[in-house]
Amino acid sequence: MKNRNILVTGGAGFIGSHLVRLLVNKYPDYHIVNMDVLTYAGNLANLKDIEAKDNYTFVKCDICDFEQVKAVFATHNIDSVIHLAAESHVDRSIKDPFSFAQTNIMGTLSLLQAAKFAWDGDFKDKLFYHVSTDEVYGSLGDEGFFLETTAYDPHSPYSASKASSDHFVRAFHDTYGLPTVISNCSNNYGSYQFPEKLIPLFINNICNNKPLPVYGKGENVRDWLFVNDHASAIDVIFHKGKLGDTYNIGGFNEWKNIDLIKVLIETTDRLLGREKGASDQLITYVTDRAGHDMRYAIDATKLKDELGWEPSLQFEEGIEKTVQWYLDNKQWMEHITSGAYEDYYNEMYKN
Ligand code: NAD
Ligand code: DAU
Repeated sequence: MKNRNILVTGGAGFIGSHLVRLLVNKYPDYHIVNMDVLTYAGNLANLKDIEAKDNYTFVKCDICDFEQVKAVFATHNIDSVIHLAAESHVDRSIKDPFSFAQTNIMGTLSLLQAAKFAWDGDFKDKLFYHVSTDEVYGSLGDEGFFLETTAYDPHSPYSASKASSDHFVRAFHDTYGLPTVISNCSNNYGSYQFPEKLIPLFINNICNNKPLPVYGKGENVRDWLFVNDHASAIDVIFHKGKLGDTYNIGGFNEWKNIDLIKVLIETTDRLLGREKGASDQLITYVTDRAGHDMRYAIDATKLKDELGWEPSLQFEEGIEKTVQWYLDNKQWMEHITSGAYEDYYNEMYKN
């Protein structure tokens, strides 16, 4: 299809802004409508370079506001949705599970209903693409990988809410025939990530000589993917994914937290021109996250074999680029870490 009117939700956030940029630049014949309510995590400064493009429109809207969402479908003749809007931080979900259920479950339901209403049984050339997480699969032991067939076993309010939203998407496919596709991705890193997440938080603290709060013993394992590679995988799945199907996205790139933190310290100190080991003493072991999943590891073989997607970057190169970006964009970080962020930080890390 040459022309599409794609509704991207959560496009002012971390992954959403990278996806919007990719789509707007790569597909001048597509119209990208970015729906975002601009929570603390949404930032239009993430999209400065493309905001004036003819094929881009921003709409400030809460995905839970069913009437407004329906109106956006009608006004822009939306034929596809790529749904990323969510409350996304596990620690916040432990403190306030209600807002996660509201946005991630009820918000997804509101979008599904709006799509069903707008498309009214004519599903030709329509698509509802739901962006989800590997956390729905729970936690692994020392061995094995999450497959698309792995049973759901979420442990945090965040992952429980994402699991529920995935179930609603499948239910709309099976019950109403809505054309859907889901992807479940591992941990992302890169530019424009809100500094509540491990990598930007630690880079910022290293720069400011602040303690680096390592949860538990730092032995939990995460599987890291460069955010631009997640965006390119979404592009491939959007265009070639099989309706009703699920695709895991990951880079076969597992790191124990403490080893990753040492790489972050080494890279940041080096790029700042500090002596090797200068920031090692900032490592501070703190109380573990409640219900902390031990290990995530994605098997992305299906995506490679069926749709030909592979990550473009080695981790060392991605981390170097990422640290350099935060060092080059101090104003972006300072703007975000003023005001409400300080209250969040002091409350979250008071022990
Ligand atoms: P983020 O927190 O950086 O951005 C979320 C965006 O959603 C923000 O712009 C926010 O303003 C918007 N939003 C929140 N509630 C909204 C509402 N009610 N209505 C409209 N907009 C709303 O999140 P992210 O890290 O970019 O994650 C995006 C998606 O990808 C999420 O669905 C998340 O579950 C999923 N995901 C994230 C990762 C990761 O490592 N960050 C990995 C796999 C999957
Ligand atoms: O796996 C995909 C998920 O990855 C996404 O669905 C989530 O939206 C995203 O936030 C991320 O979840 P994690 O909980 O894995 O990411 P986070 O950056 O919060 O933490 C990464 C690891 O680092 C985790 O084991 C907890 C640990 N950690 C985190 C913070 C913020 C610390 O040790 N100290 C910290 O201060």
